[in-house]
Amino acid sequence: MSEAGKSTNGRLLRRLVDRAGTHALACGPTDGAPGRFPGYILERRIGRGGMGATVYLARQISTGANVAIKVLPEEFAGDAAVARRFDREVRVMRSLRHPNVVRVVDSGGLPDGARFIVMEYLPSGSLARHLKEGKRFETASAVELIAKACRALSMMHDCGIIHRDIKPSNILLELSGNPKLCDFGLARLADVSNSSRLTESGDVIGTFGYMAPEQLQAKAKIDGRADTYSLGAVLYQLLTGSIPGGNARSPSVMRQDAAPFDAVVMRALETDPARRFATAEGFRQALLAAPDLNRRQAFRRIVVGGIALAGIATGVWGAWRSR
Ligand SMILES: Nc1ncnc2c1ncn2[C@@H]1O[C@H](COP(=O)(O)OP(=O)(O)OP(=O)(O)O)[C@@H](O)[C@H]1O
Ligand SMILES: [Mg+2]
Repeated sequence: MSEAGKSTNGRLLRRLVDRAGTHALACGPTDGAPGRFPGYILERRIGRGGMGATVYLARQISTGANVAIKVLPEEFAGDAAVARRFDREVRVMRSLRHPNVVRVVDSGGLPDGARFIVMEYLPSGSLARHLKEGKRFETASAVELIAKACRALSMMHDCGIIHRDIKPSNILLELSGNPKLCDFGLARLADVSNSSRLTESGDVIGTFGYMAPEQLQAKAKIDGRADTYSLGAVLYQLLTGSIPGGNARSPSVMRQDAAPFDAVVMRALETDPARRFATAEGFRQALLAAPDLNRRQAFRRIVVGGIALAGIATGVWGAWRSR
């Protein structure tokens, strides 16, 4: 990386760390809610993300269903072009259905101009919460979870939507453990609204660690492979307990039973997008094929071991007979 690039990243990192203290993930009553949401009764505040949005638990009056209402920060309200884009993105999100994508059910604006999105509510919370609470994932469950997330990415990429901010707090879990990705389209909106996505990030170092290297370069063209990198970083964290960083070692160095997935994870984390999986579906297929690979290797070891044993036995038999 050039010296200029390094210093830009250094400055960004300092700004990110400076902001870290301002993003308390508070849970509490509805204080600070910007107004009344027609058709919904607010229950409590769930949390506040780094982007400046606040999420509330609410009840939809017409259905009685619990929902999560995300109220977006001011920069989404001020500019008419951003507001139009917001409406367009939300329309697309509302039209999409996938078992691994959080459903957007409604959206709107408040009298003060604030815009909000209504989503299905997932009481189990995010993967970030589970990790924070010390949950450890078996290798097979971690791989299964990420393979499901790949399916969601694959559909979204086919629809031309890149997430750009895949990280544990944007992966929500159903009670069954089924993952659902949320916040599609929002990182892009933050870019359009001229708020620097990097400086507004919530889980500061975390978000920084999950971003594909090309996302840190101004004007770099971002495509679905950036999301695949981020998902690879999440898998790396689920397997090893740490975020990969620059010179990440293979997961099996920290966790032996992850060895069959070393090559797949490290390919997802390649610095050069051209060396990664071309698609999220490619990543998923490779994850699902890895255990087979492992079985094949085990079979080969058994065959080689068998031949070696047979050789030794023949030698011993021959030596015994010639006595
Ligand atoms: N549909 C939902 N159901 C349950 N909890 C949710 C839902 N959507 C968001 N949350 C939770 O609300 C909190 C705030 O979410 P938000 O997306 O604003 O921030 P974030 O993802 O932590 O950070 P960032 O703003 O950088 O994306 C998080 O803890 C998130 O897991
Ligand atoms: Mg989020």
